[in-house]
Parts: sequence; structure tokens; C-alpha cells
Amino acid sequence: MNAPHAREFLTPHEIVAAARANLAPGPWSYLIGGTETETTVRRNRQALDAIAFRPRVLRDVRRIDAGAAWLGRRVRLPVLLAPIGGLESFVAGGAAAAARGAAQFGVPQMLSSVCQPGLEETAAAADALRVFQLYVRGDDAWVDEHVRRARDHGYAAFCLTVDVAMYGRRERDLAGRFVKPWRAGAAAGRDFQAALSWDQVKRFKDKHDLPLVLKGIATAEDAGIAEQHGVEVIYVSNHGGRQLDHGLGSIAVLPEVVAAVGGRAQVWVDGGFMRGSDVVKAVALGAQAVGLGRLPCLGLAAAGVPGLVRALEILEEEILTCLGLLGVTSLAELGPRHLAAAAPVIPPGALSAFPLLGE
Ligand SMILES: Cc1cc2nc3c(=O)[nH]c(=O)nc-3n(C[C@H](O)[C@H](O)[C@H](O)COP(=O)(O)O)c2cc1C
Repeated sequence: MNAPHAREFLTPHEIVAAARANLAPGPWSYLIGGTETETTVRRNRQALDAIAFRPRVLRDVRRIDAGAAWLGRRVRLPVLLAPIGGLESFVAGGAAAAARGAAQFGVPQMLSSVCQPGLEETAAAADALRVFQLYVRGDDAWVDEHVRRARDHGYAAFCLTVDVAMYGRRERDLAGRFVKPWRAGAAAGRDFQAALSWDQVKRFKDKHDLPLVLKGIATAEDAGIAEQHGVEVIYVSNHGGRQLDHGLGSIAVLPEVVAAVGGRAQVWVDGGFMRGSDVVKAVALGAQAVGLGRLPCLGLAAAGVPGLVRALEILEEEILTCLGLLGVTSLAELGPRHLAAAAPVIPPGALSAFPLLGE
């Protein structure tokens, strides 16, 4: 791996360029791609770009705190590493490297069940705040066994991803004949995921006291049902545009979910978040945390654990700059009054947040 000293990265587009140089075409396409026309991928960025800021001035912003509460703990930024299957395709050490970066910087990691190493080894690799995300590939007893293992290894919550009843058609992977290292095994038992219904959510809530995250909620209707089931975290996501094509951009869905949930559960969101200003927009609309999917992978692929930490440091600088220029000194002061609708000015795409890449 060509790993420049991570300190040398001054802008995120340098990280993206290094990641691209380090990854073979198969893993690169797997990372960047979406499904079919990739309309949902683009809408994630388009929806973020369709929000402008309404800054307030003359407010003494010498000291700014971008820290946030996360499941009752304190985190350095209101972000988490979203679950990524096959992290080992991007960086030696896979999920253990991501855990080290998350712990070193001070944000939580969500571990995917289709990632190496598994939940025990990843927990042992670093003392990160962590959530375990499961793709259901077995019966109730199989799920319960994973909950027990997650609890025993210090995972603060358990996540079911619910936007994968079918596996989206990722045409870049198909066209490139790219077989994900974990795919053969993970595909077995997929009917269990397709069969999931609210009955399993009820069963989980009746049986387990580990907080439950439902990832992949994309309507107020489902957010309302989840909240009625006592789900602790409603995670708005379209899987980074990798599942249903022609969905709305995630941040466009966020306000209706926040309104439906009415503060009775936490709301997290992901999809296209690449910049500090993106994170600030989500918090202003009522999200408690923002998931980062491709961005941490790009940092890891660029320069391993230091590359991930550097990507997060730059994101933090962007958040602090954005907050200061909005005239606020903490996330709690943000609200919809800081935002306005605006026409996007950049053609949207998976990497459109990095315009210098094209130069
Ligand atoms: C390479 C890759 C693998 C992913 N694997 C999983 C997974 O195993 N489980 C899951 O719930 N989501 C998975 N996702 C979706 C992410 O958790 C997240 O929802 C999405 O990447 C957010 O969008 P962003 O990449 O634009 O930040 C994956 C995304 C990528 C890019």
C-alpha cells in the first residue's frame, strides 16, 4: 500500500485520491458504486446540496464545542462509523483497523456482521464505543446468540438493517465480475432477512434489553411504527444508494422522521455525508448522530488507521469552522432556522463533495 504520512493530507480530496491510487478496480467500484442507475446515490448529495445556511454574526465564537451525547455517553463529534461489509477489502486489519481509528479519535464504530474480523476480535482490538449490526441469516435462536455475544463483548446497542429484504443490483460489481470476499457465505440463508417483519422487532424488544437500532428507515410511517415498538434508535438510511434505486436523498427524509418520532427515540441518519457542513445540516434538522459510510473507508484505504483519523480530524475542522461561521458555539444551539432551501450548484455524485478531484 502506498501510504503517505497521513499528516500530509490537508484536504479531503487528497485522501480520496490516495485511496483511489491504493485500491484495485474491484474494491474501488464496490466502495463507490450504488444500484442500477445510481439515482439514490446522487440524490443523497443533491438533497444535501439543496440546503443552504442562514448564518448569524457577532456572537463571540472563540470557544466552540462540537461534542455530542451518544447513547448516554460523550463523543467528540455527532458522528459514527456506519457498518461496512468487507472492510478488509480496503485496509489490512479490516474492522479492527476501523475500531482503532474510531477509538483513537473518539467516535463510535458500528460493526457489520459481514466484516472481518468478527465481533469478538474487533472488540478486543480497541476500546471504541461500539454497536453490532446483524444481517439476519438464521432463526430466532441464531439472532439471540448474536445478541448475547454482542452484549458479552461490550457492544452498546444492537442493529438490524431493514432495507435489505432483497440485495440491490450493484451493476459496477456485476460488470466488473467482482466477487466480494464475504459474499458467498453471507448469501446463504438470505430468506431469513427477506422474511423479517415487525413481529421480529416485537420479539426482540420483549426478549432483550440491549438498545435496538433499526437501520434503513425511510418514511415517517415506518418511523412511527418503530417508535411504537419501543425501538431506541431510528436510523434513516438508504444504504448509501446501494439498495432501492430511485429513493429520496436521506436528508430529505429526515424532517418527516424527526416529526413522527417526536423525541421519543433517537434519530440517526446517513447517506452522502462527506463534509462537516453536511453533518451540521443534519443536526440542525434534529438528528442526534450522522453515520459515515464511504468517507472512513476512503481514509482507511488512503493510509490505514492514521488515514481514518486524519479524515475525521479534517471533518472536525470543517464542523468547527461551520459552527463558528453560523454564530453558534454548540450543537444544541442549531435549529431549522439556520437552514434555507436552495438550488444545488454542483452536479451530484458519490464524490461530488470533492470538486478539486477533477482538477
Ligand atoms: C462498501 C460498503 C459496504 C456496506 N456494508 C454494509 C453492511 O454490511 N451493513 C449495513 O447495514 N450497511 C452497509 N453499508 C451501508 C452503510 O452502512 C451506510 O448506510 C452508507 O454507506 C452511508 O452512505 P455513505 O457511504 O454515502 O456515507 C455499506 C456501504 C458501503 C459503501
